[in-house]
Amino acid sequence: MADSRSLAWPPAPIKTARLVLRESEARDRAVVIELDASPEVSTYLGGPRPRAELERTVPEVPGQRPGFFVVELDGAVIGTIQLDPHAPELSGSRRKAGGTELGYLFLPEAWGRGYATEACAAALDWFAGELPGEPVVLYTQTANARSMRLAAKLGFTEVERFQAYGAEQWFGVRSSVTPPA
Ligand SMILES: CC(C)(COP(=O)(O)OP(=O)(O)OC[C@H]1O[C@@H](n2cnc3c(N)ncnc32)[C@H](O)[C@@H]1OP(=O)(O)O)[C@@H](O)C(=O)NCCC(=O)NCCS
Repeated sequence: MADSRSLAWPPAPIKTARLVLRESEARDRAVVIELDASPEVSTYLGGPRPRAELERTVPEVPGQRPGFFVVELDGAVIGTIQLDPHAPELSGSRRKAGGTELGYLFLPEAWGRGYATEACAAALDWFAGELPGEPVVLYTQTANARSMRLAAKLGFTEVERFQAYGAEQWFGVRSSVTPPA
C-alpha cells in the first residue's frame, strides 16, 4: 500500500541508552524470518508461519517501508518496530481513529529487560517529531500480558475491546487528541 504520510525516510539511526534503531538491510532477513517463524513470538498473533514459506516469500531486503525499524543491541538485531498507516477494516471508533499503527516483535531471549519499552519510546518520539499531533493506535490481544504492560508504559489508553480471531482484542490510542466517539 502507498504510504500517504510525509515521513522523511530513512532517518539517521536512532540511538538510545542501549539500542540503535535503523532501517532494515539485507543482512536482517534471517531475524525477520526467525520472528515470524517463532511459536513464542507469534503466540498471540495467529501462530507461527512455516519457515519454508517465509524463506520463499520474505523479500531479499525485508521491511523496506517508511516506519519499519530493526532494533540492534551491541550490533545484533533483537527485534523490529513498525509504524504503519492504520488501515481499519472495521467500523465505529476503530475506523474513525485513522492515524498510524504501532507494532513490535522482539526475540524471546530479549524479553524482560526493558528493551521493547526503550525502543518503542524512541520510535514514538521520532514519529511525534515527524508528524506532530498524528495519533498512534495499537492492537493487541488482552491475553498478551507483556504487550498489554508495554502498551500502558508507552502511554496508550484503551478505546475499546472486541472479539476477533477467536480472542479478545484491545484497541488503544496514544495522542493528545481525544479519539472520536
Ligand atoms: C510484547 C513484547 C515486545 C514485550 O517485551 P518485554 O521485554 O516484556 O517488554 P519491555 O521492554 O517493556 O520489558 C519489560 C520487562 O523488562 C523488565 N526490565 C528489566 N530491566 C529493565 C530495564 N533496565 N528497564 C526497564 N525494564 C526492565 C521489566 O521489569 C519488565 O519485566 P516484567 O515483564 O517481568 O514486568 C514481547 O513480549 C514480544 O515481542 N512479544 C511477541 C510479539 C507480540 O506479541 N507483539 C504484540 C503485537 S503488536
